[in-house]
Amino acid sequence: MKVLGIETSCDESSVALADADGVHANLVSSQIQLHDKFGGVVPELASRAHVRNLLPVIEAALEQSGTRLDEVDAVAATAGPGLIGAVLTGLTCAKALAWSLQCPFVGVHHIEAHILANSIDVPMQFPALALVVSGGHTELVLVRGPGDYQRLGVTRDDAVGETFDKTAKLMGLPYPGGPVIEGLARDGREGEVRLPRSLTTPGNLEFSFSGLKTAVRRHLESLGPAPTARQQADLARGLLDAVLDVLLMKTERALDQQPQVRGIYLAGGVAANGPLRERFAGLARERGLDFRPPRLAWCTDNAAMVAWTGRLQLLAGRVDGLNLPAFARGGIRSWAVDGSAAG
Ligand code: KG4
Ligand code: ZN
Repeated sequence: MKVLGIETSCDESSVALADADGVHANLVSSQIQLHDKFGGVVPELASRAHVRNLLPVIEAALEQSGTRLDEVDAVAATAGPGLIGAVLTGLTCAKALAWSLQCPFVGVHHIEAHILANSIDVPMQFPALALVVSGGHTELVLVRGPGDYQRLGVTRDDAVGETFDKTAKLMGLPYPGGPVIEGLARDGREGEVRLPRSLTTPGNLEFSFSGLKTAVRRHLESLGPAPTARQQADLARGLLDAVLDVLLMKTERALDQQPQVRGIYLAGGVAANGPLRERFAGLARERGLDFRPPRLAWCTDNAAMVAWTGRLQLLAGRVDGLNLPAFARGGIRSWAVDGSAAG
């Protein structure tokens, strides 16, 4: 079954094709330059850019994968969560395509797609623990199998990627902040700037990052109007270490509470972070768990994960009606409690 997947939940217009052999094309038209001068994504601009980009990206993805439109067996698109206008553009386009091709359509949960991207190249080991870290989400999810999820802990306020983006803006750095902070932190000295670790009480699996933003602002004020490159690097290092310490601490705690887990996985844009991937690899070695750093192209928003997840849903017999609504918010939901969608 050949599935065409569409992702437009934020600022990437992406189209991919997936079949039994994996993913064949994953085209991403990024809007980073469009939003850069605003220091974050402007929802209305994102929607308009998706409308302009989608058809050319679909055509390019079909061409790159050597697929004719009439060879597409089903269409999948992100139904949420995300910027509602942006989600609507891709979802509506997917429905129209499915209607015109008279083929099945399925809506995909963006967070589920980020998690299941880990199973595109090689099977995931279930039950699994997934740490979802993106611009809009930070959560620990117990994955019993495709479609069977339990949220163990979420952020009370900012997401990790959002924290990097907002602190980067405070530091006068470009958007998106995550990769820039990672680069700067390489030259920073460990322990020079110590920032708070929040919600550290034993057993707690929630996250909170808004205090970090305030701590960064205060530290910047103490440095005066023109911090040196060294001071910026030390601050970036202090920020990255504070974030990673909390992410690792909570992951370890979740593993202590869920000893049946066989694999740990990273999902979302922040999963591209080198030090995070290294620390996860170390934790997996220490505990004898499966872990593979996800391909970089499948960490940040992409349609490969949407086509792939949509295909798993369709194989499990799930089809959505063309009246499926888009949604802006909402945690990951289970749809196959017996895990029968694997394969
Ligand atoms: O998953 P994603 O592409 O979009 C959302 O669904 O939110 O994640 C984007 C986020 C941004 O906040 C960006 O700063 C962060 O991922 N990010 C990183 C890295 N690459 C992207 N954060 C830390 N280190 C990176 N290398
Ligand atoms: Zn995402």
